[in-house]
Amino acid sequence: MKMSVTKFDRLARVFHWVSAVVILWATFSGLFLAVVKVESEWQILISEFNISLTTVFIPIFCGRVVHALRTQKPAYQGTLNALQAKCAHSVHIFMYLLIMLIIISGVLMMRLEFQVFGIVSITPLLKDVWLCEWFSTIHHYASYILAVLIIVHVGAVVWHQYTGKPILKRML
Ligand code: HEM
Ligand code: HEM
Repeated sequence: MKMSVTKFDRLARVFHWVSAVVILWATFSGLFLAVVKVESEWQILISEFNISLTTVFIPIFCGRVVHALRTQKPAYQGTLNALQAKCAHSVHIFMYLLIMLIIISGVLMMRLEFQVFGIVSITPLLKDVWLCEWFSTIHHYASYILAVLIIVHVGAVVWHQYTGKPILKRML
């Protein structure tokens, strides 16, 4: 008898946790810098580091999306009902779309040449100040929405775990 799959495959799990670390850091450190507005060496250092990190993350994210599209998700098998599964799926799709929007707007808001860990220089794709500002606004609001969704996502995983639905082990 063929056993049905109950957890994400190894590659999907590696993609998830690498992405989780990068996105959690980029989102919350980015929002912190934007809120605190400290003009210090630290701020510049973190800002340059984040731009390099998220640029390196672009091919990883593309790999993750291709892998997610090519593989089947494990069945919930009694853990979530049909409505909950639909909600979870919608939130996941929305997160993927938002990350795409954040990456595209991040690249397009760059008006000056920037370095990726001091190794590669990337020339800006757009020169128009107004367009760059527009993408910067999109980047800003999309990252706010993503922060809320991350809290909902992690909150849902914790909530299900405590109510006896072991969702977390699908991703471990
Ligand atoms: C996973 C992808 C990314 C996430 C989660 C992310 C998140 C953020 C957040 C939360 C902020 C602060 C927003 C604000 O309130 O103003 C920010 C700012 C910024 N992001 Fe991104 N970002 C990502 C990708 C990128 C990429 C690919 C680039 C460009 C190559 C980029 C360039 C910038 C720049 C220039 C700022 C302005 C502030 C600064 O210099 O730190 N971001 N990002
Ligand atoms: C401590 C933090 C996190 C935990 C404990 C966690 C846990 C999980 C678990 C258990 C799943 C499987 C859920 C299911 O199949 O219904 C999952 C899926 C997912 N997570 Fe997270 N996660 C975390 C952070 C993040 C972050 C920061 C992001 C990015 C914004 C993220 C994006 C996703 C996506 C897109 C999926 C769906 C995967 C797919 O179906 O292709 N997660 N997460």
